Amino acid sequence: MKNRFSRIGFILAAAGSAVGLGNIWKFPYITGEYGGGAFVLVYLLAIMFIGLTVFLAEAVIGQNAQANVATSFIETSKSKNENWKIAGFMIATGLILLSFYSVVLGWILSYVFSSFGTLPADAKTAGAAFDTLITKDLATQLLYHTLIAGTVIFIVLKGIKDGIEKINLILMPFLGIILIGLLMYAISLDSFSKAVSFMFVADWSKINSDALLAALGQAFFTLSLGVGTILTYSASLPKEANFVKSSIMVALVDTGIALIAGLIIFSFLFEAGAPSAAGPGLVFISLPVIFSGWGLLGKIIAISFFVALVFAGITSAVSMIEPSLMFFIERFKMTRKKATLLCGSVFYLLGIVALLSMSTTYGSSLTFFGKNAFDLMDFASSSVMMPTAAIVICLFLGYFVDKTMLQEKFTKHTSVLFFNVWYFLIRYVVPIAITILFLNQLGLI
Ligand code: PHE
Repeated sequence: MKNRFSRIGFILAAAGSAVGLGNIWKFPYITGEYGGGAFVLVYLLAIMFIGLTVFLAEAVIGQNAQANVATSFIETSKSKNENWKIAGFMIATGLILLSFYSVVLGWILSYVFSSFGTLPADAKTAGAAFDTLITKDLATQLLYHTLIAGTVIFIVLKGIKDGIEKINLILMPFLGIILIGLLMYAISLDSFSKAVSFMFVADWSKINSDALLAALGQAFFTLSLGVGTILTYSASLPKEANFVKSSIMVALVDTGIALIAGLIIFSFLFEAGAPSAAGPGLVFISLPVIFSGWGLLGKIIAISFFVALVFAGITSAVSMIEPSLMFFIERFKMTRKKATLLCGSVFYLLGIVALLSMSTTYGSSLTFFGKNAFDLMDFASSSVMMPTAAIVICLFLGYFVDKTMLQEKFTKHTSVLFFNVWYFLIRYVVPIAITILFLNQLGLI
């Protein structure tokens, strides 16, 4: 089969999927909200023991079966049970996620262009500008959502090797260069040491069960788990490639970039005397104000920062649609073009619903169960469908797949001890941890 990753292509693409708005926007703002160091430590443990465990799980299923999510589950199950096609529900999660991820990426792209003009001088102006964009300026949002969706569709139309692998080969090094540049600038600031101690000296006073669950949820989201993305990418990984080493590399790159983004952003916030807990408005309100105080240099930094976010986001966005493409291509014998047009239209239209639901004009008619469509899609995908999928993956491998077969796959590349620890985590620890997270997100505990 020609249309597949090289090993390095897989690592780049999986890292491209993992590194996204989750690392550069969400990680810093939740770290700020939960007080820094102690949260970072909990997060690192969540990545190591829970995130990486599920990552390896998706990778081993995909690499073993070399097929779309549904077929991979059937093929990997002990009795090749057709009912496992039910696991194919995961592909819907990616499309829902992508619909509003594309809208948010659109906002960021619009900030790239508006950063060429005058940046807002204070939080009130910045807040008002952002508010106008999302509640009133439908045309601008629609334009940028269309640009992002069009780019994603254009890339995935070209396939795994010429589309996804290639775009990651170009954008990931660029992202690295921009982040290193921003980090060097952050290091030159007086507040850098304050940022380092904020992130690496533990203050346990803000750690409660909410913080633990936030760390766990973030570990899943940032590693792109529970959407079938890693499984689908691994299905295009050569069968003999070392999936254990590749998975660990991706987790390391993803964590490294989150930490670097945190250091950059906290140095900026502290340098401007802004509070560390900027909340979700961090990227759209707090940072533009800080950049505006730095004159021309601030403008350059603002543009580079938003470009970095767009690059990181695009490589994640293409990975959200790929599971459904592979599903429709293989199971419904669609051409790639047809599958892309189908899935592309679904997420594009859902995205329009999401953006309209935040507007003053259409908001009330697009609000269901007290949540507007945007929040509802976010809730359904990140809080319900992703954890459900993660639980299904764990129980599947832990109880419905031949252990000897799994052990063989792992021990080709790593020790028996490593496999035993992974197997224990997948059977007991991870399903329990995710169930708790899940019940909490549903407001049941
Ligand atoms: N990991 C991506 C981020 O941090 C988001 C993502 C989730 C991508 C699920 C693909 C699948 O932004």
